[in-house]
Amino acid sequence: MTPGDLQEVAQAFGNAALRAKTAGFDGVQILAAHGFFLSQLLCPRYNSRTDAYGGPIENRARLLLEVLSSIRKQVGRNYPVLVKLNGQDLVENGLTLEDSLKVGAMLEEQGIDAIEVSGGLLNVAGLMDKKTDSEEDISAFRKEAEAFKKTLRVPIILVGGIRSLQLAQKLIDEGGADYISMSRPFICEPDLIKRWKAGDSRKADCISCNQCVEQIKQGLGLQCVPLEPEPAATFFPEHLERIPAGPPHLPGTIYQIATGLEQWESGFYPVLKIQVVRDEKIIASGPSIPLSSDDPDNLLQAITTLIEKHRQR
Ligand SMILES: Cc1cc2nc3c(=O)[nH]c(=O)nc-3n(C[C@H](O)[C@H](O)[C@H](O)COP(=O)(O)O)c2cc1C
Ligand code: SF4
Repeated sequence: MTPGDLQEVAQAFGNAALRAKTAGFDGVQILAAHGFFLSQLLCPRYNSRTDAYGGPIENRARLLLEVLSSIRKQVGRNYPVLVKLNGQDLVENGLTLEDSLKVGAMLEEQGIDAIEVSGGLLNVAGLMDKKTDSEEDISAFRKEAEAFKKTLRVPIILVGGIRSLQLAQKLIDEGGADYISMSRPFICEPDLIKRWKAGDSRKADCISCNQCVEQIKQGLGLQCVPLEPEPAATFFPEHLERIPAGPPHLPGTIYQIATGLEQWESGFYPVLKIQVVRDEKIIASGPSIPLSSDDPDNLLQAITTLIEKHRQR
């Protein structure tokens, strides 16, 4: 892109912000994170320009500052203009926290109203892969947000994996951010804030499965269609016998008699289990019958003989 092309981009951002203001939006946010265009310019891995827009961070941030200036010219000083910025790119030769803090300082100097701190690049796996097992760990960019808080005066917004009012409150109380931002929880529960305000402070229902992202990738629109979490296997069959199940089961239904190991809280135990199988799926499972640990194979053998006798009758 020529410097003229870049000027066109800055102008287009300004025009877009004015359209948003005219349409009644409360504010705009410049997206300079996650490997989108402005983020690529900030990132040495992608920006190999040798002109005024490449090289030191002051140059790599030049277009972002020009975008802000173009927006300000069109929407005025009092209209909220925020930026979403990577605290760091988390890739080799990416934007570092040190450089990102410099970008933050330049944006503050030029009158940005708040900085939302995120991280990572969309074309590099893992950006949104973290699941909700340990919410504390999932607030992935808290260290970066803290660094911004320490360095700048402008309000800092933290985003990424925050799912509970308690953690949100803790992050604010500990001084790591001024505001909390969430995305997927509102796709799942658009009225989440209303629910929390009404006193029901249970964690957001969103399980961060990213199926909503898959939906938009396939052009199916934005909707929450969570993946059913796979129940963890607790029974590991070693020997199986299968016999057709009679009525009231549907034709094709099978009884599966299995011995194997079952995991209970404190370890693995030999058990016998009778399960009902249709279309290769287990549709019902009887209780586990504990076996004495020395003889599961003989017991199955006895059952197999009984079945054979039953078949021959
Ligand atoms: C459906 C969907 C679309 C998104 N689109 C963008 C996008 O275009 N640009 C961007 O920087 N982040 C995008 N994000 C990322 C979110 O803005 C947010 O940073 C991320 O989901 C982490 O926050 P969360 O854990 O609260 O969802 C998107 C997220 C979702 C779920
Ligand atoms: S599809 Fe998954 S990640 Fe997306 S909103 Fe629903 S539960 Fe959350």
